[in-house]
Amino acid sequence: MKAVILAGGKGTRLRPLTLSMPKPLVPLAGKPLVRHIIDSLPAEVDEVLLAVNYMKGRLQEYFETAELPVKVRLVEENRPLGTGGALKNLREHIDGTFLAFNGDIVSSLDVSEMLRQHRSRGGIGTIALWRVEDPSAYGVAALDGHRITSFQEKPPPGEELSDLINAGVYVFEPEVLEHIPDGVVSLEKEVFPRILDLGMNGHLFEGHWVDCGTRSSYLEAQNVLLRAAGPEENVFCEGAQVSSGAQLEDCAVLSRAEVAPGAVLRRTIVCPGAKVGAGQKVYDKIYR
Ligand code: GDD
Ligand code: MG
Repeated sequence: MKAVILAGGKGTRLRPLTLSMPKPLVPLAGKPLVRHIIDSLPAEVDEVLLAVNYMKGRLQEYFETAELPVKVRLVEENRPLGTGGALKNLREHIDGTFLAFNGDIVSSLDVSEMLRQHRSRGGIGTIALWRVEDPSAYGVAALDGHRITSFQEKPPPGEELSDLINAGVYVFEPEVLEHIPDGVVSLEKEVFPRILDLGMNGHLFEGHWVDCGTRSSYLEAQNVLLRAAGPEENVFCEGAQVSSGAQLEDCAVLSRAEVAPGAVLRRTIVCPGAKVGAGQKVYDKIYR
């Protein structure tokens, strides 16, 4: 089975981190964002198709040297084709039921369970759904039982039909590709509303879910993952130098970063190579 990861966005909402690296490689709780998805794939996935544009070279470098649990193929679009166009661009590699992921999601979703549910219910696709208080910044699905009856991409506040959002993980039958026109296409705006009649089901799950695509949600994801990991509060990447005389709480210190004695850091990410001086206090920041 193939798993597509949509990873061609520029990551503008995550600048400055994404000025020097593509969003899939932004470090999160000790490993690149995209590895959280790759490491959560069911064993039946034999190849990951990574749909890329922005900073393809950096991604190539990473995947050539990283030790991976599954084969990863990078497929470039000649220009960004949108979430639907990117899928269509992969059609020659897709040979059956497949998974697709927004590349900026971390969650506790059990993908095998979602697949099992998709197969037992049938239909052309299944969308993972997550309940939120304010759904207006996301894709919103209205359900009748487990069938999705309506899909709104980023509806104006107050017009949301439910509090269930598109969690950015899909199981699709290959026929979905026949409903994506050529060119730049949004899966959410143009394709979903058209294929609802062919049987689109919602798969609700619990635990945690974060779209790491903005600065504040990236910090939140860091916290969520640290909490999920248990009592160990801080994450130190390889090459980070943290003085034993520094106090850190819910922090991530990335590669080659340094924290001097007496520094006090809370809920902060110290970027690669950054130096926090002696006695400095840093709270709730991405520190460069
Ligand atoms: N290959 C490729 N080409 N990938 C793309 C392109 C493109 O042209 N455009 C976007 N992507 C990738 C992004 O890199 C990201 O991983 C994913 O597609 C989703 O794009 P975002 O730009 O992050 O969309 P969003 O967060 O505003 O909304 C989407 O995610 C929400 C959940 O986080 C939608 O799918 C919403 O419906 C959903 O609720
Ligand atoms: Mg996003």
